Amino acid sequence: MNAMPPIRYSEAAQATFCELDRRVTEIYEQVREWRGWRLISDPQTPRETILGLVREIIRSVAWYQAHTTEAGFHMFGRLPKSDVRLIQALCGHKAEEAEHGLWAHEDHAKLGGSPAAVAAPPLPATFAVAAVWWRMAQVEDPLGYLGAEYLFEQLTALVTQAALPIIAGRNLPRDGLRFVIEHATEDAKHATFLKHTIMDVVTRYPESPEAMFRCFDYFHHVYPLPVWDEALQRMEAGAANP
Ligand SMILES: [Fe+2]
Ligand SMILES: [Fe+2]
Repeated sequence: MNAMPPIRYSEAAQATFCELDRRVTEIYEQVREWRGWRLISDPQTPRETILGLVREIIRSVAWYQAHTTEAGFHMFGRLPKSDVRLIQALCGHKAEEAEHGLWAHEDHAKLGGSPAAVAAPPLPATFAVAAVWWRMAQVEDPLGYLGAEYLFEQLTALVTQAALPIIAGRNLPRDGLRFVIEHATEDAKHATFLKHTIMDVVTRYPESPEAMFRCFDYFHHVYPLPVWDEALQRMEAGAANP
């Protein structure tokens, strides 16, 4: 995965990135207010409850991750074929994502989730994540990919970094939390890569921000809180094993 060669980014490119970043920060603040996050960060919450919620969020990741990855490849596979460097860079990043669904499957099992739970059909909010990604992949301007992907990567970086002190402070088992722990560094790198890619693309394709914001909004309509709320409900219903 290589960032684009250094160029002067246009003012519109810098403004587009700042607005996308501002939106992710706002969503992150909403996550911090979410009932599930307050549960995870409350020192009074039993460790088993925290791990149960993480297990259910990870089950959702295992349900959608292969589909969002394949949809991503499809979407930027529709980019202008002359833009070889951009396609190469996005392929390199997505190749690094490819196995992360496997981490989710492994963590889900290590946190006590049954094979039947993850093999079952996804619940609606999780199904909707894959559905939105595939619809964007098929009909949207492929440059819009960068807006939705920035929400995915930067939000994961922020949330997993905030989870690290809780994992350490509550002495949670690192073995079942590989997805969370590795993404704290992995997605900080990926978000930086996307930052430069977004600014490069907007500089070279001045009409592209509209699609980036549109895809950001499509994805945000289904992610993260609808999916994480669904996971919280499963945890509260004691649904480790359906
Ligand atoms: Fe990832
Ligand atoms: Fe990533």
